[in-house]
Amino acid sequence: MPDTARISVQPPIAMLAELTHRCPLACPYCSNPLEMTGREAELDTETWLRAFREAAEMGVLQLHLSGGEPVSRRDIVELAKGAREAGLYVNLITSGIGLTDARLQALEPWVDHIQLSLQGVTAAVADRIGGYTGGFERKMHVAERIGQMGFPLTLNAVMHRHNLDDLPATLDMAVRLGARRIEVACVQFQGWALKNRAMLQPSRDQVDEAKRIVARARRELKGRLAIDFVPPDYYADYPKACMGGGWGSTGLNIAPDGKVLPCHAAETIPGLTFRTIAEAGLREIWYDSAAFNAFRGTDWMPELCQTCDRRDVDFGGCRCQAMAIAGDPTATDPVCRKSPHRALVDAALEIDVVDAAEPDFVYRRL
Ligand code: SF4
Ligand code: FES
Repeated sequence: MPDTARISVQPPIAMLAELTHRCPLACPYCSNPLEMTGREAELDTETWLRAFREAAEMGVLQLHLSGGEPVSRRDIVELAKGAREAGLYVNLITSGIGLTDARLQALEPWVDHIQLSLQGVTAAVADRIGGYTGGFERKMHVAERIGQMGFPLTLNAVMHRHNLDDLPATLDMAVRLGARRIEVACVQFQGWALKNRAMLQPSRDQVDEAKRIVARARRELKGRLAIDFVPPDYYADYPKACMGGGWGSTGLNIAPDGKVLPCHAAETIPGLTFRTIAEAGLREIWYDSAAFNAFRGTDWMPELCQTCDRRDVDFGGCRCQAMAIAGDPTATDPVCRKSPHRALVDAALEIDVVDAAEPDFVYRRL
């Protein structure tokens, strides 16, 4: 445990509210945990609204309403309204399924921005990935209505072996729908996605080509479409700074049952206890809980990271990835070229991309 007195903890900037794990889609790359929360254990409206007020009071600026599918909650309009009235910038992260015209209109006064997920640019690919026949057509209708109503729109395109070759068409679609930004995010193997890693892992050629396409599109679409590209971790030489600035630095998540988490996969780390928003105040959890302080600062780091010149760039990478691959949340992220566990990542790539037979997806369903 680090000496928290020596670590200057800033308030979080962003909060992800996972309102529900219910979702009409069943994407095999879902980052939700293997053990999902059923409707009966979800927080009620009042408790969410209190959490939003506490978040705003402690300095959170942006609220991401997410899931699962957040519009599966009947009280989604009330929640968005309460969040906006608390002073938060409200971003709705949605698949679009269930977002009727009437709901969009009801949300319009309270939602600042919509982030629409994209499973593919054709019905054949999108409906297969989402595990929902007809989902693509409904999503396209919603995307057009979002544009007509003037919501700022970001497309969130999760990319993998089965759709990375469609990247040019994906960027074209973002332009056509009037999106201001697209996140081209290669699958992160957390939660449910780990079950489907062998099916989803792109090849190195696909990744290299995607980098070239993104570089060219950034030049050609400058001023029209901002493109964020998240390359696949396993092909990187160094890990990303998880949660922006490392564990417990800039953001927090609240799970559907109210557990307050430093990141979406935190519950995979053994030995940490996460309190719920019903049990304690958000401020107390953020600043004082053992779980949030477990990997703050640098004291927890192995010697390799402590003495590395990238220590304040990637903060030793992702704790949950270290747990998933090396079985040790205090290890250097195994993606790092310097990590003693890097061979595990390279071996996984060999198995996934070269030798893997093509099994069916394991769809994520509650
Ligand atoms: Fe980052 Fe640690 Fe690797 Fe250095 S040794 S690059 S700090 S993960
Ligand atoms: Fe948990 Fe990266 S997802 S630290």
